[in-house]
Order: sequence, then structure tokens, then C-alpha cells
Amino acid sequence: MIALGSDHAGFPLKEEIKKYLEEKGIAYKDYGCYTPERFDYAIAAKKACDGVMSGECEKAILCCGTGIGISMAANKVKGIRAAACSDYFSAKYTRAHNDANCLCLGDRVLGVGLALELVEVFLNTEFEGGRHQTRIDQIMAIEKGEKFFD
Ligand code: RB5
Repeated sequence: MIALGSDHAGFPLKEEIKKYLEEKGIAYKDYGCYTPERFDYAIAAKKACDGVMSGECEKAILCCGTGIGISMAANKVKGIRAAACSDYFSAKYTRAHNDANCLCLGDRVLGVGLALELVEVFLNTEFEGGRHQTRIDQIMAIEKGEKFFD
């Protein structure tokens, strides 16, 4: 299950992503917003990321105007590693190397075609583990306030 969320600026792209996921037979849960009326991105980020951290959803895909504000909010939810991506390479390697569990996209930055390519590669790229796991552990140590270097 993929958690989806957006503010008003990201709402049109979220609707396109829903169509894409339906075509691919991928289940999703839409945590809002549900209309193009003004809606603050932090609310959508918190709801969708809670859906990931509860285990109901595997990953989140979030949209706002730039992809940045909603990624900042998402990264405040413990356990979330959100990446705002505007290019294919970043969307691939934020999975392969950062084990990102949340992709953030900017409706005012990306065309729908590229955005859906980023969704596809994000959903289909596995985390490589190995040396990258050490770095993920360090990120999570920062979140927990643990000492991880001398
Ligand atoms: C909303 O106008 C806009 O500021 C928001 O969608 C986003 O781009 C913030 O990062």
C-alpha cells in the first residue's frame, strides 16, 4: 500500500499519480487533500507518514508546489526518510543508497510525464544495503539523539 498526500498545489499531480497506480494495480491510500482548496502541506505529510510508520503503508509519495515544504514536514516524522526529487537519478538512488521511504514531488517543478517516471523508478528500486546501511543507521542515530562518532 502506498500512502499519498498533498497540499492544494500538489493536488493535481497526486490525482495523476492515483491514475497511474490504478493502471498498474498498485494499492494506495489517499491521506488528502481531497479538493483543490487551500490545504497546508504539513497536515498531509504527517497523516501520510503516520500511515507508513504504523505499517499500514510501505512508502509515501507526497506532492506540493516544489516538493520541498512537504519533504521538510515529512522528515520530522520519526522513521521517515523523505527525498524531494526532480530527476531520475536522484529518485533511483534515494532508494538504492538512502533507503528513502518517502518520495516528494513538486507539481510546479515537474511535468506529469517526468513525475510518473520518478514514481516508477522510486517504487521499483531496492535498497542496496551493505555500506549504505551503516549510513542509514547514522541518520537514525541522529534522530534518536544517540552518539555515533567520537
Ligand atoms: C503552496 O503555495 C506552496 O508554498 C507549497 O506547495 C510548497 O511549494 C512549499 O514548499
